[in-house]
Amino acid sequence: MIMARRLTAFLFSMFFAAAVHAADNSPVPHLDIGKGGQCVEPDHTLMRKTHMNLLKHQRDETMRKGIRGQKYSLAECVECHAGQKTNSVLGSNEAFCQGCHAYAAVKLDCFECHANKRKVTAEASK
Ligand code: HEC
Ligand code: HEC
Ligand code: HEC
Repeated sequence: MIMARRLTAFLFSMFFAAAVHAADNSPVPHLDIGKGGQCVEPDHTLMRKTHMNLLKHQRDETMRKGIRGQKYSLAECVECHAGQKTNSVLGSNEAFCQGCHAYAAVKLDCFECHANKRKVTAEASK
């Protein structure tokens, strides 16, 4: 009897913890992070805040100075972050780039020109 009550109390506390967590607006949406491995920067919180600057800087380096194949290449992001099943960073609110941007209400035009799919499948499905 005491055990059952403890269990009930425990389940209740879990429920409230979950409810509070859901009401907090800082957590991120549920994202398919893709292949895994080591991001271009090891600090993911920092990545979340600065990835746009890294990408824009890399783009400027490439467009103005012709520097290619660098660390912050957009194609590299897609290689890792494309969904395991979809092979894409777009297409649903679980897709890595689209999911978080939908959540943050950010719109991107990058993928009108850049590939949103992992190269492996793009080649395999030719
Ligand atoms: C070698 C694989 C790899 C590459 C290349 C890579 N990432 Fe990552 N990235 C990861 C992993 C793994 C995580 C950690 C995901 C997790 O556990 O939440 C991560 C985390 C992130 C996060 C934070 C996600 C969050 O939930 O807060 C962002 C944003 C991000 N990456 C963007 C990029 C961008 C933009 C590029 C290209 C410039 C890139 N990544 C390149 C593997 C990679
Ligand atoms: C109108 C088409 C177009 C749009 C839209 C566009 N790009 Fe690009 N981008 C290019 C072209 C073309 C290059 C040069 C490719 C090369 O010479 O290697 C390039 C190069 C880059 C590079 C350096 C090369 C690489 O693969 O990393 C980055 C980074 C990049 N773009 C990021 C972005 C981001 C981020 C956005 C969205 C904010 C974006 N681009 C939108 C056409 C576009
Ligand atoms: C965990 C959340 C998250 C993930 C994942 C994420 N982004 Fe972002 N991204 C943001 C937020 C938030 C902003 C807006 C930041 C701001 O306005 O200061 C943003 C902005 C950007 C911008 C600048 C847009 C503009 O018009 O200035 C680019 C480019 C960008 N993200 C590229 C990417 C790419 C490419 C991926 C996938 C590889 C990605 N992001 C994944 C959260 C994320």
